Amino acid sequence: MTVIARLDPDSPTPLYRQLRAALEESISAGHFPDGRLPSSRALATELGVSRNTVNLAYQELVVDGYVSTQPRSGLVVNAEVARRAPVRAAAARPEAPRRGRPPWDELVVPGPRDPFEGLRLPADWSQYPYPFLSAQIDVEHFPRQALAGALREALRDDHAVASLQDSRGQDDPWLVEQLCSRVLPARGITATPEDVLITSGSQQAFYLLGRALVRPGTRIAVENPGWADARAILGAAGGEIVPVDVDAGGIVMTSALSHVRLTCITPSHQLPTGVTLSIARRRELLDIAVASNSLIVEDDYDSELRYQGRPTPALKAIDTQDRVIYLGSLSKLLAPGLRLGFVVAAPELIDHMRRWRRIIIRHPPGVLQRALAVFIDRGDYHRWLRRNRATMKRKWARIVPAAAEHLPWPVAAPTGGLGLWVVADKDFDSRQLRTRAATEGVLLEQGQPLFCGPTPVTNTFRLGYAAIREERIEEGMTVIGRLARQIIDS
Ligand SMILES: Cc1ncc(COP(=O)(O)O)c(C=O)c1O
Repeated sequence: MTVIARLDPDSPTPLYRQLRAALEESISAGHFPDGRLPSSRALATELGVSRNTVNLAYQELVVDGYVSTQPRSGLVVNAEVARRAPVRAAAARPEAPRRGRPPWDELVVPGPRDPFEGLRLPADWSQYPYPFLSAQIDVEHFPRQALAGALREALRDDHAVASLQDSRGQDDPWLVEQLCSRVLPARGITATPEDVLITSGSQQAFYLLGRALVRPGTRIAVENPGWADARAILGAAGGEIVPVDVDAGGIVMTSALSHVRLTCITPSHQLPTGVTLSIARRRELLDIAVASNSLIVEDDYDSELRYQGRPTPALKAIDTQDRVIYLGSLSKLLAPGLRLGFVVAAPELIDHMRRWRRIIIRHPPGVLQRALAVFIDRGDYHRWLRRNRATMKRKWARIVPAAAEHLPWPVAAPTGGLGLWVVADKDFDSRQLRTRAATEGVLLEQGQPLFCGPTPVTNTFRLGYAAIREERIEEGMTVIGRLARQIIDS
């Protein structure tokens, strides 16, 4: 037998999920030497389960990139996964000597759970015709030439030391200067170099804030729904997460906000709903922060991408009392793989965040920092900003009416950002939609991990338009609309 599956019908985990886990293990252990999975009929008979159970497990493996459908061969393990298999197989061989091996369960401090566990993108996501994703980009439409030029320049004589040295914890002063003089003013922010720290994306900024500001039990307000990674990072640092609802005006003003040390918000375009925090609430939040001696983390990940109305200045721009910690990221405007971001905050805090960063990575890669400085200096950054904004605006202008035409539910049009937030009928299961859509070449982002609380919220999903080609949007939305109606009718 190729699949060693102990399926427990009494477990709260559905059978198909148990089977999927068993299949994943069998694939990793190299139990399918010819790379082919048994037919769903054969496996269902072998294990005494329904074909539907096997099909659902198979569909998840397809979505997560473990296997793909090949004409005449059925399901085949993807080459990338197969290449990794023998290594894992050796470790998992039953006859491998166990005595003397470290008791990992006792030794290891368990790492935090991936908030997006079970929702991994297929490894070949970029080959899908309709990737409705907000956290990836269309690499075909990226200023690769300009970035390559900036990287080349960063390695020339005048820049080589800055690019290649161990800066012992310091940032590239030229990049910091460029951010202060040419990037932050557009957000209404006045900053001097000692207010700025370069990070490996906002993700690292949250991690450093967790080290610098969070003690066991520190209360932290987060938007619900909101960015799961930030919540996971601050929770792992020992913070007590206080979820606060979001409505059409952004985070709701509740008394809970007066009893926290930190409030984390995405005021420009709330993630995931896309709403902009009203001016009145911004002022109120600042007042609350002063009155309750708390701090606000402004995660400004995509504010440059606004297509309607004037951009709202950052909350940091109206903060006269150093209560706001501003996080910028290049992941959305440029590319998430660059892992570059920055923090603007009071020098006292920046200094401590720098100390933490120093013992973790010393500093983000010098060559990337210098290349970004060159990129900004040459005008490439602002050229790209204009071009990318125009492209994203065209995509937005397509997806908003397409959603109204094809989806069975009304969808609020955001004024900017990277995706539409879809709230389906209460009993609609977007997991089914995600799984079925993937088999027709459509990828979408499920909303469930963005919610706090024990009860899964399964009727939401996000249609990102950062990665999909403009001309594919309409077609992709037709598929989603058709599948959604099929699920409703079934
Ligand atoms: C709310 C939010 N903030 C920030 C980021 C960017 O994080 P990073 O800069 O670490 O890529 C994302 C990306 O998914 C996000 O959704």
